[in-house]
Amino acid sequence: MWLSRVVLVLLAIVFEIVSYSKGYQIRIRFDDDEIFSDCRDQLDGVLNISGVWDLTELTIESQSDQIKVSGNTTSVWDIQLTDRVVGSIDVYKFYRREWVPTIYKINVPDVCSTMYDKNQYWYSLWTQYITNADDIKDKCINVRGVKYIHRPFILKDLQFNNQMTTVEGPHKIQIQLKAFNVFGKLRPTSICFELKAYFETKFI
Ligand SMILES: *[C@@H]1O[C@H](CO)[C@@H](O)[C@H](O)[C@H]1NC(C)=O
Ligand SMILES: *[C@@H]1O[C@H](CO)[C@@H](O)[C@H](O)[C@H]1NC(C)=O
Repeated sequence: MWLSRVVLVLLAIVFEIVSYSKGYQIRIRFDDDEIFSDCRDQLDGVLNISGVWDLTELTIESQSDQIKVSGNTTSVWDIQLTDRVVGSIDVYKFYRREWVPTIYKINVPDVCSTMYDKNQYWYSLWTQYITNADDIKDKCINVRGVKYIHRPFILKDLQFNNQMTTVEGPHKIQIQLKAFNVFGKLRPTSICFELKAYFETKFI
């Protein structure tokens, strides 16, 4: 009886410790100069961020360690409303003077169905600040000339928890977008651009 109580207490303590150590918290800070860059060594037909959005009315300025964004962007990608846009997000680490792939990868089979989904990283980073979202939501990024009006915002650091590994140092986040017409045929142009970011890990 006494022994089983000791065992129970011990189990409870062990459980507490296990549930307290949740792993690591990863923080991603974006680089303030030239936040967007081109993907290297791409095939013909692969455009950079300017191939999907006209950013000339968008202002990105860094101010005391913060990145402030204001103004508008306009869709310019030559695809159709009925196209399915497929996205992928791949994280690369700068290691021994080379960009090497990491396990961090997200595939988005239908970008338009999740563009304004509150649980997505891009919602907390970007689409939540689009003030005319209700008017343009159904056009997704598929209709040229559609303008996204932003409330001025500060580009937040991304934070998430991770059970397994630590990640530190300079990284790049590569974003690719491809469009397929209603017959499943790939459009001749696709998009690839990168965001420079710095990763930090904290044990929690
Ligand atoms: C995208 O590519 C165009 C044309 O190739 C180039 O003029 C422009 O500087 C690039 N834009 C960005 C944001 O990388
Ligand atoms: C953004 O668009 C709105 C509405 O068209 C306009 O009033 C505003 O001046 C634009 N901002 C910039 C920086 O172009």
